[in-house]
Amino acid sequence: MAQIIDSSCSSSTPIRFITQPRNKVTGEIIVPGDKSVSHRSIMFGSLAIGTTHIKGFLPGQDCLATMNVFKAMGIKIEGPDENQNVTVTGKGLHGLSAPEALLDIGNSGTSIRLLSGILAGQTFPSSMAGDSSLNGRPMARVINPLKLMGADISASEDGTPPVVCQGRKPDTKLTAIDYNLPMASAQVKSCVLLAGMYAEGVTSVTEPGITRDHTERMLTAFGYPVSTEETVNGKKISIEGGHTLTACDIHVPGDISSATFFMVAGLIAKEGQLTIKNVGMNPTRIGSINILKQMNGDLTVINERMAGGEPVADVIVKSSQLCGIDIDERDVPLAIDEFPAIFIAAACANGTTRLRGAEELRVKESDRIQAMADGLVILGIDCTVYDDGVDIVGGQLTSGTIHSHDDHRIAMSFAIASLRASGSLEILDCDNVATSFPNFVTLANQIGLSVKQQ
Ligand code: S3P
Repeated sequence: MAQIIDSSCSSSTPIRFITQPRNKVTGEIIVPGDKSVSHRSIMFGSLAIGTTHIKGFLPGQDCLATMNVFKAMGIKIEGPDENQNVTVTGKGLHGLSAPEALLDIGNSGTSIRLLSGILAGQTFPSSMAGDSSLNGRPMARVINPLKLMGADISASEDGTPPVVCQGRKPDTKLTAIDYNLPMASAQVKSCVLLAGMYAEGVTSVTEPGITRDHTERMLTAFGYPVSTEETVNGKKISIEGGHTLTACDIHVPGDISSATFFMVAGLIAKEGQLTIKNVGMNPTRIGSINILKQMNGDLTVINERMAGGEPVADVIVKSSQLCGIDIDERDVPLAIDEFPAIFIAAACANGTTRLRGAEELRVKESDRIQAMADGLVILGIDCTVYDDGVDIVGGQLTSGTIHSHDDHRIAMSFAIASLRASGSLEILDCDNVATSFPNFVTLANQIGLSVKQQ
């Protein structure tokens, strides 16, 4: 893959997208590496004994923030090079050194929450904070279980960053817990499991619904024993403290969250066909495919194969007349990051799409229920907002100015919506697209959209 940073992303004034309507998308694209897997590959590589080689790393700002945090704790990390290869020279579970300053986490919720579990196990003090979006996001969900494990860790009074950890005394360990997750969150699950590596005994986490399982897969790939049993709604995952992570090679699949923008583009375009190659097909991540197929989307999954412990495939997308559906609540955690794009599909569908059980969308990089509904209403789409979801009545998108709320997925979703708008869209504050999808604009224009960044 070529170097995938859009050079025009380096402006110091806020980036906005200006789009024009287009009828057709066509071509073959490869989306960049999966964000969740890229974060974890740096974390596990740093805590492993030996050298980990990562292929297909996502060079987005979020994953680079994770990388910089581990560099600040004494880990040698080389790359990403122009082929997105990264090499991590791990120092083992107890090899990190104390950072000299506050750790800057940028916009990344995954980094701060998973790192909370890792830092709780260290014997040195540390503190983390990020940008204004991250500094407004809830951290009590990780602080509470870590405190139950005996960690001296805290956030601000209102439960937001900075997260400050005093470190455990050298001759003590964290205490293993049996934790029922209050919400279906892979970040909280992962945080507790990572802290569990530093605990005396077996730590278990029970999820209330299926959540992404990249942590469990990668623990296994690094040779750390982890056991999983099915429960009524999800899984119970158990980990014993004191084992070792051993370096391995990681092949990062293409990010299905990024691919979903182009699946929706291919479906809502009036004509055309698109192939998206090397898309991660982890069963805990394919909610968007399930939902878009139920909406009558013509998506064909081909070349299913395994790459680096994760299933991947190519997806062929054809222009389709979508129809509104009642989204199955079981698909919500499996499509949690894809709803902004799915809402655009709903706005272009015949009839009403109803989503419930998705209150977690309100505490993402923005309140994604409100931010998407506000943008769609500006474009003439009828939306009714609920605490835990939204009803969207499909219709004709008009033109207008959309606030992305500095949320990468809101910005990219409305850029895709331009295919069916009657006129130009101006999308404000798009800098954070670079957190997860640095070459989004290049790929969008390559397949036939008209997106200029200014
Ligand atoms: C992620 C888990 C999800 C998701 C986020 C990445 C992860 O968050 O929204 O983008 O890598 O574990 P929650 O755990 O809060 O649902």
